[in-house]
Amino acid sequence: MKTLLLETAERAARYLEEIANRRVAPLPADVARLEALAGPLPEVPSDPSEVLALLDDFGSPATVASAGGRYFGFVIGGSLPAALAANWMAGAWDQNAAMQIMSPVAAKLEEIVLAWMVDLLGLPPGSGAGFVTGTTMANFTALAAARTTLLQRAGWNAEEDGLFGAPPIHVVVGDEVHVSLLKALSMLGLGRSRVTRVPVDAQGRMRPEALPALDERTLVCVQAGNVNTGAFDEAGEICARAHAAGSWVHVDGAFGYWAAVSPRYAPLLAGAGAADSWAIDCHKWLNVPYDSAVAIVRRPEYVQAAMAMSAAYLTPGAGREPWHFAPEASRRARGVELWAAMRSLGRSGLAELVERNCRQATLFADRLRAAGFTVLNDVVLNQVLVSFGSENDTLRVIADVQKDGTCWCGGTRWHGQAAMRISVSSWATTDEDVERSLAAMIRIARRGSQD
Ligand SMILES: Cc1ncc(COP(=O)(O)O)c(C=O)c1O
Repeated sequence: MKTLLLETAERAARYLEEIANRRVAPLPADVARLEALAGPLPEVPSDPSEVLALLDDFGSPATVASAGGRYFGFVIGGSLPAALAANWMAGAWDQNAAMQIMSPVAAKLEEIVLAWMVDLLGLPPGSGAGFVTGTTMANFTALAAARTTLLQRAGWNAEEDGLFGAPPIHVVVGDEVHVSLLKALSMLGLGRSRVTRVPVDAQGRMRPEALPALDERTLVCVQAGNVNTGAFDEAGEICARAHAAGSWVHVDGAFGYWAAVSPRYAPLLAGAGAADSWAIDCHKWLNVPYDSAVAIVRRPEYVQAAMAMSAAYLTPGAGREPWHFAPEASRRARGVELWAAMRSLGRSGLAELVERNCRQATLFADRLRAAGFTVLNDVVLNQVLVSFGSENDTLRVIADVQKDGTCWCGGTRWHGQAAMRISVSSWATTDEDVERSLAAMIRIARRGSQD
């Protein structure tokens, strides 16, 4: 076992060393070589070290180098050194984080990181939380708590009686709501289309004056960090109006909520701490390995009411039982990496990470503007949308940037126009990475079609 793990550490370290200079998207030939991993299931056991060698030799070249500093697609962080190392430790521990009795360390670390997160992000002390895979499930978990609580207040028990014949819940979202929140609503039986969509401004922010009538059976979903522009809904004003009517406010803060760790960017979240629940990703800007997010709910009993289960053989201990706060029972110990990431960076390190990435996003925007291209959004955080001219020009640049391999950016549509999206979310991104990527983008945009 020891030899195998040391060999694997060597291979992983080499992979991460080489990533600084390798192309970001894998070559099609390397993807084609993945066939070497296929074939019929072996009839007999193989040597574990040979298995690892196959995985590294054929798997590593076909990875996308998102752990490096020049990946700007979607919103994808890397893995902080301490978080990656903790992930290996957690792999060795192989703990089931469902119950205290199954893993005292996993249960304790969840308690510790929840207290740290609540403090760092300016959320109510004593909040409850479920540790889940990503913001899709964090939205699901928090919205389940909202559904249960609003229906309980109306005298209905959703867990026992389902939604057949239940008093209707009115769901309000901004027109720029993230699709994952709509998916969460659909999984909860609240419906993707049965929502009121509130018109948004030019940056994608919900216009508070356009909110519909709210009441004690309304669930208002606010967004902190638009996936295209990075813009924030005006949470303070929305919370004040919603709470005056007895409504529940949920904040989808997937990546944007990490702005709270920086004194400079925290004002974007003014008033968001007054909400009732929050979905926050950790595999994005906290830079822990996939997969990891947290659903935080102001009152622990609200999320517990939606998520708890019991059986004779499952013996609850005293205090917080992790499985009462998340959809799953058995699951991996995500608190381990969260603890290591926060413990290693500390408050100032986290603020530096967010501020550096935001500064780098501004650098991208300034340089691309100076080179004659159009930045389509107000760069308030870490997201930049760029047009390189006509629809075809922009689509051509995106495709050629991806092919070139220096960096990787995806595409989107913003106000009916094609745009390249740049998301700066990684601890590993240096200013040199930004300069190298800018040089490639500008060279590609100026040279016209390769074909
Ligand atoms: C605002 C917002 N909500 C939700 C999600 C979904 O997150 P996940 O992919 O972790 O489920 C994203 C992903 O980018 C997002 O930006």
